[in-house]
Amino acid sequence: MIAEIQKKIKDVSGFSTNDSKELEKFRIEYLGKKGHISTYFAQFKKVQDSEKKEYGLAINELKKVTLKKLEDLKKSINPLDKFNLVNEDLTRPASAIELGSRHPISIIRDKIIDIFYKIGFNISEGPEMEDDWHNFTALNLPEHHPARDMQDTFFINKNPDLLLRTHTSSVQIRHMENNEPPIRTISPGRVYRNEDVSARSHCFFHQIEGLYIDKNVSFADLKQTLLFFTKELFGNSKIRLRPSYFPFTEPSAEVDIYWGLNSETDYKITKGTGWLEIMGCGMVDPNVLENCKIDPNEYSGFAFGMGIERIAMLLYQIEDIRILYENDVRFINQFKGSV
Ligand code: PHE
Repeated sequence: MIAEIQKKIKDVSGFSTNDSKELEKFRIEYLGKKGHISTYFAQFKKVQDSEKKEYGLAINELKKVTLKKLEDLKKSINPLDKFNLVNEDLTRPASAIELGSRHPISIIRDKIIDIFYKIGFNISEGPEMEDDWHNFTALNLPEHHPARDMQDTFFINKNPDLLLRTHTSSVQIRHMENNEPPIRTISPGRVYRNEDVSARSHCFFHQIEGLYIDKNVSFADLKQTLLFFTKELFGNSKIRLRPSYFPFTEPSAEVDIYWGLNSETDYKITKGTGWLEIMGCGMVDPNVLENCKIDPNEYSGFAFGMGIERIAMLLYQIEDIRILYENDVRFINQFKGSV
């Protein structure tokens, strides 16, 4: 009987067809309910004990060879089988590819960059972990200066000193150290402040700061530049500058845009004034220029800085800053198609 099975193994190995009906016949002959293989299995009981092992191995081999043969011939008869496509509907329209959406912070950042790029500003970037010199001292904030408390700082290490930058003014220092005037640069990036997280503020956010250094740069240049910017971004031509204080600029100002009072929300966000503060600015303090080896008698300049979140929240009417960092697709998907 074992010899008979061996013969069948040979038959199966030698079998070939390119006709699916014949293949089905083959399948039934070997693998069907009353086919050779189940018949051999049924006879197992009758086999002498001494032969059982060899017999068992032989039928298993026959079954393996038959299944393999069946599989191979199926593939060669219908090539689509290779891809398991036989039962697929090839006329079915493809499923749509989900498009991602850009994050509102990236959208606004790039809009702001584009506006300044148009008027000759380049982009500078620097490290988020800074040293005391670039974040404070060079910006006219020597040690123990009370204005250091204006921005609560995350300190990382005392010696060598290392902290998370509280503004991208640090990048402006790096840029002035490494470039000669004329300088026109904007520095976008993430900054950190040790503040409580609430609907209005977070312990990190994004800024864009700008710096312009050349001969005879005046406050009027600053005003015109900001006016151009606000017109481009908000489509709004009314701004006002209120005197303010920053250690690195003198004089300093805060910039408000006229938002209007057309809706209840306008009253709420402008506290009934119609005006909204959007950034700080001023003429670069001569001490800062000196710290960066730029002669303040030859050169002057202006600087400004704004928070991207604040502007994104205004333009998209987002009420809680925290939603910007949650990566909830239901929120992000609302910005589909915005570039
Ligand atoms: N660095 C300031 C801040 O982070 C913004 C600023 C930049 C103000 C440049 C004036 C000039 O608040």
